[in-house]
Amino acid sequence: MSNKPIGIFDSGIGGTSIFKEIHALLPNENCIYLADSKNAPYGNKSEENILHLSIKNAEYLLNKGCKIIVVACNTATTNAISYLRANYDVPFIGIEPAIKPAALNTQSKTVGILATKGTLSSQLFHKTTDLYASGIKVIEQVGEGIVPLIETGKLDSDEMNVLLKTYLEPMLKQNIDYLVLGCTHYPYLIPMLTKMLPDHVKIIDSGLAVAKQTQAVLSRQNLLNSSKDKPTVNLFSNGDISVLNSVLKNEFNVSHLDF
Ligand code: DGL
Repeated sequence: MSNKPIGIFDSGIGGTSIFKEIHALLPNENCIYLADSKNAPYGNKSEENILHLSIKNAEYLLNKGCKIIVVACNTATTNAISYLRANYDVPFIGIEPAIKPAALNTQSKTVGILATKGTLSSQLFHKTTDLYASGIKVIEQVGEGIVPLIETGKLDSDEMNVLLKTYLEPMLKQNIDYLVLGCTHYPYLIPMLTKMLPDHVKIIDSGLAVAKQTQAVLSRQNLLNSSKDKPTVNLFSNGDISVLNSVLKNEFNVSHLDF
């Protein structure tokens, strides 16, 4: 049993889509969320740079005494999680695009994936796709420009609408019936995507699966918090905290942090 916090990080505010699932499933856990918005987007950075930033974020959370770290970022997971797991003692939970359920269930044998360049070009992504999607047409689309718009509070904007239409059109022409969201910023687009996509196209995101995996690992390692004290949940950003507050509807304690 451990009342140490769960540490969660992302390149910015996107990982809050995972944080919210974790907090809903494990309300008794203390949590620290780190948004490295100053360095967002990670998606266009080199593998070395993504690794360097992931190490920095993980070490910050480890210094705060976190008992487990959730890498709430597909780009950081696909480029850095093997290194983190090999070099630090706590368990690391990652998030990867959910190609498997899409490939298993597609009727049209064609699925679309929207993710960052860093995720789509990673070895881990290729390995997963080869493993689970053989015989399936996977249409990969880099979501260029989406993360900066979300990070600057332009989620529901005309620019976003235009970008999304540009990215979805070629997929729809090729008859996708699943759209995999391969970036933790993208679940915030679901209301817009639902309006744009025909009813038969299903959207897959892995937030709940990550929360369940976090719960399973904590339980297996006997690390769940059994304390009766009110849990503390703190979110930090080295960018504009108003954007973080706005996606969290001001429901949590958010602070600016220089790191
Ligand atoms: N939220 C991130 C992801 O899941 C990173 C996006 C970015 O910084 O480019 O990939």
